[in-house]
This record gives sequence, structure tokens and C-alpha cells, in this order.
Amino acid sequence: MDDVLQAARAWRVGVLFSQTGATASVERTQLQATLLAIDEINAAGGVLDMPIEPVIYDPASDPKHFRSHAERLLGLDKVRLIFGCYMSSTRKAVLPVVESHRALLFYPTLYEGFEYSRNCIYTGAAPNQNSVQLARYLFEHYGNRFLLIGSNYVYPYESNRVMTDLVRQAGGKIVNELYVPLSAREEHFARAIKEIGKTQPDVIFSTVVGRSTAAFYRAYRAAGFDPVRQPIASLTTSEAEVAEMTAEDAEGHITAAPFFETLGTAAARRFTAAYKARYGADAPVPAAAEAAYFQVHLAAAAIARAGSAEPERILPELAEIEVAAPQGRVRIDRDNNHAYLWPRVARLDARGKFQIVWNPGVRVRPDPYSVVQSLGDWSSDGIGVPSALPGAA
Ligand code: ACM
Repeated sequence: MDDVLQAARAWRVGVLFSQTGATASVERTQLQATLLAIDEINAAGGVLDMPIEPVIYDPASDPKHFRSHAERLLGLDKVRLIFGCYMSSTRKAVLPVVESHRALLFYPTLYEGFEYSRNCIYTGAAPNQNSVQLARYLFEHYGNRFLLIGSNYVYPYESNRVMTDLVRQAGGKIVNELYVPLSAREEHFARAIKEIGKTQPDVIFSTVVGRSTAAFYRAYRAAGFDPVRQPIASLTTSEAEVAEMTAEDAEGHITAAPFFETLGTAAARRFTAAYKARYGADAPVPAAAEAAYFQVHLAAAAIARAGSAEPERILPELAEIEVAAPQGRVRIDRDNNHAYLWPRVARLDARGKFQIVWNPGVRVRPDPYSVVQSLGDWSSDGIGVPSALPGAA
């Protein structure tokens, strides 16, 4: 057993999610889900009779703070595993630090793909597990003329590039591509609103993140656009961002994710109930929190098998484990360190709740470099059989 850990009589791990700043609302759910999983594990006796002890910092939605806190965790605090990061800009700030310490980052957020680090376990969706399914649903139901709008950083640029490829593949058109500041207010969306009025796209694909999301949806409704005919589709508008909107502003808009608070399976209901019992009946439970939760259980199972929290020891174990996550059974692909996940598409109803409108019931292998860049073939790993889209030929 590792000397440092044995001396401490606890498995010390770093936890880096923002409690303040632009993306605090969703990152707070990731922090809380991480702590819920740690408490469950400790209540059941810990890992090999030692509790997991989180060392928590608030990096304030700022890549510089993420980087300096990661340095502190891996230096002074002597942790070897970090659970954290939402925005890709923060993951990209943390990863060189993690790599230079030969440590391991567990990253529980959907992202743009096209990345592999041996020192990162990616448990959120890659584009072949959310963008492809969302695009197909939108083409079927709304059309293929898209306007792209995003926050001004790496995830929106790259996610928009992936969506542009998918739209072109379907013979569609990007009518415009616009960016707003990370902490945009309603007035920052005036140009986008004008462009939407002028170009009349079938779909607005939004990669706006964090607290600006509510301002955009409010401005959209105030301008009189009709989401029934012309929705905002976004992979970063989850239960956490919707909690900052009125139900009227939210209704009719679309999201794809492996987990929704309204998912009715026994495992999903158990997780949502445990989360709400601890954090309040109105606490939002997004996919980002679900990944934050299951990745702790995955890490704990790997530590138990390895008898160590040393990355070199747990990495081979991680590839051997499958856990029953709230979304369904998940595991990590040994070749690319990303998770096999269960894509779903949902629409916001009149109460501002996601209703799942497409649930193909298949687990999709991660393809972070979009090697299979086809709308038609987003192949499952053999668990379940892909069903046709409603209305698809
Ligand atoms: C993100 O920046 N990966 C949402």
C-alpha cells in the first residue's frame, strides 16, 4: 500500500469544481454529486477499510485558478487523483500539471472530443455520444439550416466545428456562427436575436455555457420566437442552467445527454432521490452530476482492485471494471480512456422539466476522434440495438 496514504489512513483525493463564477451552478452539482458518492463509499466502510478524504478547492470558473489549485493538490496536498473540471478551458489548464506529476484527472463533463491524455479519464459524452444523436433528431424534426451561437472559448469553437460537419453531411447550411463573452448578459445577445430574425434558421445550436444561458433563453422568448417550430438545441443547457430560467423561457427547447433527472429507471430514480434527499427537493440533477457521481464509484472500485491509488496501478484496473451508473452500465475504453455511455434526447416541457423524446436504449462506444463521422453509424457496443428515429425511414 502507498506509504503516504497508509500514513494518512485515508485515500486523499483532490476535488476541483467551481462554487463561484460563470459555471458555478452546474459545477456545484458536480461537487455535490462527488461528495455524495464519497459519503456512500465511506458509509459502506471505505475502500479497503480506509475512507476517501476529499481535499476541496473553489477554482472560481477560472482556468488560472484551476491550474494553481491543481499544482497545490499534487504538490503540497500530495494527492494522486483529482476529480474535477467543467469547461474545457479549465481541463486544458489542469492537464499539463496532472501529466507532469504522472497523476490522474477524472473529468465528468461532455466536451468537444479530439483529445487523449493517458492521465485523464473522460466520463462525460464525446461528440459521437451526443452531437450526432442530437443532430439526427433535429434534422428529422426541425430541418437542417442551423445558426450557431456559443460562449467565447475552446469548447464552443470545436463543438460548432463538429456540428458544422454534421449539418453539411445532411446537405444543410450554417446560416451564421456567433460568439458572446463567457459572462454575457441579455444585451450581448441582441446581435444574435437580430440574426435569427433575419436568417430564420430551423434550429439555433447553442454552445453558450453557465449563467449566460438563462439570459439567452429569456432574450429569445422576449423576441417572440417559437421553440415549437424553431428550438434552441444545446448540449450545455442542463437541469442546472434551466433552474436559473422561468419555465416559460425553457419550454420547447432541446438537449441530448446520457442522463436526465426525469429518467425513470430504478438506478436513475435511486440516484436522483439520494441527491435530492441530501441537497433539497428542488436541487437540479444534470448529466454532469451523474458522471461526477459514477466516476467516483469507478475510481473506488479500481483502487480496491489495485490496493493503491497510484495512477499506474489503477489505470489497468479501470479498463476491467463496469459499474451500474444511474444512466445504465458504464465502463472505460482501454484504448482512449473515455466512457461507454447511453445517449438520449429530451425536450423541455411547460414545467421546465426534460421529457425524454428519444431513448434508443443502446450504449455507445466512445469515439473521441470521430473516426466514424457518420450520422447513420454511431454504432453501439452490442448492448441493445439502435432503434430508428421516430419518423426515420
Ligand atoms: C465544456 O466546456 N466541455 C462544456
